[in-house]
Amino acid sequence: MDNWWFFPHLNAFLNGLSGVFLLAGFYFIKTGQREKHRAAMTTALAISAVFLTSYVTSKVVIGLDSVKFTAEGPVRWIYFFVLITHTVLAALITPFVLVTFWRALKGRFEVHRKLARVVFPIWLYVSVTGVIVYLLLYQLFPSN
Ligand code: HEM
Repeated sequence: MDNWWFFPHLNAFLNGLSGVFLLAGFYFIKTGQREKHRAAMTTALAISAVFLTSYVTSKVVIGLDSVKFTAEGPVRWIYFFVLITHTVLAALITPFVLVTFWRALKGRFEVHRKLARVVFPIWLYVSVTGVIVYLLLYQLFPSN
C-alpha cells in the first residue's frame, strides 16, 4: 500500500474534476453555448475514462478491501448509504452516459436532450458522492 498511497487522492481528484466539467457543460448548454457544451462534456467523459483506468489499476495493485470505515454512530449509516448508492448508480449509469454522448455525436439532439435530462443529474450525483466517500473515508474519519 505504501508505494500506492497517492491512488485514493488521485482518484478522488479525477472524480471531482470530471464533476466540475459536467457542471460547466450544463451551464454552457443552458446559456446556449453549444460548442463549449460539447467540449466540456467530452472532457468530462475523457476524465471519467482516465478515472476508471486509475481506479481499476488501484484495486489491482492495492487490493479490494485495504481500507475499512471504522467510525461508529450515524455517520456510519450515512457513509454506507452514500457508498452503496454511489456504486450501484455508477455501474448503472455508465452505458447510458455513452448512449447519451453517442446520440449527440450523431446529431440526434432530440433523443440526446431527453436522455440527458435523466442521465445528467445521476452522473452528477455519482461524481459528487465519489468525492464525499473519499472525504469521509480518508480525510474526516481515517481509521489510523
Ligand atoms: C455524455 C455527455 C453529455 C451530457 C451528459 C450532456 C447533457 C446535456 C444536457 C443536460 C442538455 C440539456 C437538456 C435540457 O434541455 O434540459 C443537453 C443538451 C444538448 N447537448 Fe448535450 N450532453 C453531453 C454531450 C454532448 C455532446 C458531445 C454534444 C455535441 C456533439 C452535445 C450537444 C447538445 C445540444 C446541441 C443540446 C441542445 C439540444 C436541444 O435543446 O435540442 N451534448 N446536453
